[in-house]
Amino acid sequence: MKFIVQNGGSLKGSIRVPGDKSISHRSIMFGSIAEGTSHISGFLEGEDSLNTLRAFRAMGVDIEGPDNGKVVVHGVGMHGLKKPGQALDVGNSGTSMRLLAGLFSGLPFDVELKGDASLSKRPMARVTRPLAEMGAVVETAAEGRPPLKISGGRQLHGMDYVMPMASAQVKSCCLLAGLYAEGRTCVTEPAPTRDHTERMLTAFGVPVEVKGSTMCVQGPAKLNACDIDVPADISSSAFFMVGASIAQNSDITLEHVGINPTRTGIIDILKLMGADIELLNQREAGGEPVADIRIRSAQLKGAVIPEHLVPLAIDEFPVIFVAAACAQGETIITGAEELRVKECDRIQVMAEGLQALGVDAQPTADGMVIQGGMIQSGTVHSHDDHRIAMAFSMAALRASGEIEIEDCDNVNTSFPGFVDLAAKAGLAIRSLK
Ligand code: S3P
Repeated sequence: MKFIVQNGGSLKGSIRVPGDKSISHRSIMFGSIAEGTSHISGFLEGEDSLNTLRAFRAMGVDIEGPDNGKVVVHGVGMHGLKKPGQALDVGNSGTSMRLLAGLFSGLPFDVELKGDASLSKRPMARVTRPLAEMGAVVETAAEGRPPLKISGGRQLHGMDYVMPMASAQVKSCCLLAGLYAEGRTCVTEPAPTRDHTERMLTAFGVPVEVKGSTMCVQGPAKLNACDIDVPADISSSAFFMVGASIAQNSDITLEHVGINPTRTGIIDILKLMGADIELLNQREAGGEPVADIRIRSAQLKGAVIPEHLVPLAIDEFPVIFVAAACAQGETIITGAEELRVKECDRIQVMAEGLQALGVDAQPTADGMVIQGGMIQSGTVHSHDDHRIAMAFSMAALRASGEIEIEDCDNVNTSFPGFVDLAAKAGLAIRSLK
């Protein structure tokens, strides 16, 4: 599928983007191994979180839905999962593979996790190394790539692990293995990363001790069912935040968006660049802070992005690069080497796409240097990466002509209904098979 986006237009009205991907994954995982029935609302019906749901169904968990974001998970407890009949295919989803590697390392049977072509190229040693330290046996393909073959029947033991990179997936993997381990499992992160695992484990009755940058769980643990209200995904909202900022006469409100402080780097970065963003009706839903977010057009200016904001906006860089291309002056991003191992190499692919649209964007080992200016018409490739496709869709709002984006099927991994919702908000977008 490709997207064709006419240039110009503005974003207006009030919309709710789909549910948070990170929270949706965790709600199924924790609901499945909890005792009792968990009711989830606002669940993201995108391919990534559906792959997590299918994995637990294949392991014998009775899961009703999803039906309009509602899912009912009949938990089987810590020891109730059954050996799946075949390898579990988690498609494009790195979160499923890395978190499930931890969760499944303490089970009494073998499990194999595999993924699509993009996931099969992504590094898994970052999780298999600490898991081995806990006593798990996980075999990978060459160079630590998927598939992962997890051997059953290993008694895990707690550990103290200092993570070499700021990754919520690695942190969560270790803590989830820690639920099945004897003793305490502690993970120290080099910079704050999203803390949905810590918050949701606490809601499911497992205390997580947080001391500075170290998080610990005590195993073996037991989870009690819990109802989860999944807020709208700030990462999906980010496309509209940038779109409304760069398009003239825009005024859009994004409803019920999760504003967990470990996720709001996009707001801080855009404000630093001069964006007009207001948080309205701040409230709490299911242990997570939420707000309605109003964004109006603004003349953005280039900025040096502080490195401490990078992990707090890690999924938003494709669209931040687009914001930088529309800003006055130079934007410098550093400390973002993790972008090279996402669904694609997001530094290289975004730099090439921006250059194809006439933007002076110079990739560096750990970021990019972008001179703001005109965006021209052209064709770009998403490299099967959902966030690249959506970022370039927004670029059309300020382009001098039409933008065509190839390989857009994977938008469904995180944002089903993107084309319709973006069109409703004012983007002149259509998809072609
Ligand atoms: C996620 C963590 C991030 C993020 C991903 C979702 C999570 O990955 O990029 O989309 O749900 O824990 P890293 O923790 O590897 O940076």
